[in-house]
Amino acid sequence: MCTNNIQEAMAMVFFKASTIPTFIFLLLLLLSYDMIIISLAQTQAPAPGLSYTFYQNTCPQLESIIRKHLQTVFASDIGQAAGLLRLHFHDCFVQGCDGSILLDGSASKPSEKDAVPNTSLRAQAFAIIENIRRLVHNVCGPVVSCSDITTLAARDAVFLSGGPNYNLPLGRRDGLTSATVSTTLASFPPFAGNTSTMLAYFGQKGFTPTDLVALSGGHTIGISHCIPVAIRIYPTPDPTMDEKYYNYLRMTCPTGESTNTTFMDIRSPNVFDNKYFVDLMNHQGLLNSDQDLYTDARTRSIVTNFAVNQTLFFEKFVSAMIKLSQLSVLTGTQGEIRANCSRVNSNDLLILPNNQDGKLASY
Ligand code: HEM
Repeated sequence: MCTNNIQEAMAMVFFKASTIPTFIFLLLLLLSYDMIIISLAQTQAPAPGLSYTFYQNTCPQLESIIRKHLQTVFASDIGQAAGLLRLHFHDCFVQGCDGSILLDGSASKPSEKDAVPNTSLRAQAFAIIENIRRLVHNVCGPVVSCSDITTLAARDAVFLSGGPNYNLPLGRRDGLTSATVSTTLASFPPFAGNTSTMLAYFGQKGFTPTDLVALSGGHTIGISHCIPVAIRIYPTPDPTMDEKYYNYLRMTCPTGESTNTTFMDIRSPNVFDNKYFVDLMNHQGLLNSDQDLYTDARTRSIVTNFAVNQTLFFEKFVSAMIKLSQLSVLTGTQGEIRANCSRVNSNDLLILPNNQDGKLASY
């Protein structure tokens, strides 16, 4: 039994988690492919330079290529969906959604990737984006940016895990620079922060308290390492934490330095649903930044509303995600369309014609 299965079994024992076997779940999703669409996207005007029909003539197959590829990836490992969703958030929060998170650094010039909040991003997420880039460029030529691919992959990660489907404005261009490690570090709120800290960080970028709570609902899928959790269980339990959950976390993270991982949403860790908010109401939120959304009077009722109304959560999540996806985008003649997502074009000594550049790596 692999570590993930053991954790899942433990979570089932402790919380009777409703984890639908992944293959049945994906089958249901395939059947309902076109049935769940939140068209609310069209109600938000795109940022200047972006459009809902951007690739209509230049790459009409774009969205189907991405969705089909991710269906295959997730059929063998649904956990990768969480990695892609987090990757998009971490791209957009540092100098905007410009694909700068994807750039490799060097020993003398570390990149965003090398900064602490990003070192726990899944390596496979980067490989998946580059694989999609190859597939797309092989069909359409080098006309689609890595930042648009990252944005669409996050959308499909949400949908293919059971969340809402929505349309996205496209036309982002890739940035030419990576932020420094210190700028990257300063861009993210600390996981030990409380709701005031989160409201301040997200407010600065134009997000409302409802946006913050909805986006935090991204923690309905995926895993965390023990380190961000340790401060809540060692040396003494956080008093806001449910006792049963505390015992579970102590077993999963036997020491503060443990390299184990634990689910972000104990009830349905692989399904994009509103159970994360049910967790918070039961004092079973994982991070301090999660649980405090229920403790703080300013956000408590939003948590409760999402916990009892998944449709409302999905609507607000979609609206906040579209906002997130348009933060400081580069458009028009700004930036470039990278021929390899991990480096800017000027660093490519050899770009093969039409990007027929090799096979896909695993993932
Ligand atoms: C509100 C501020 C946020 C904080 C403090 C925060 C912090 C964290 C931390 C500490 C982890 C665990 C990382 C690890 O140890 O591997 C994590 C995981 C994750 N976060 Fe957030 N996050 C925030 C907002 C968001 C947002 C807005 C999204 C997306 C909409 C998001 C999506 C995710 C996902 C999907 C994971 C699981 C990743 C995986 O399984 O690989 N987070 N977050």
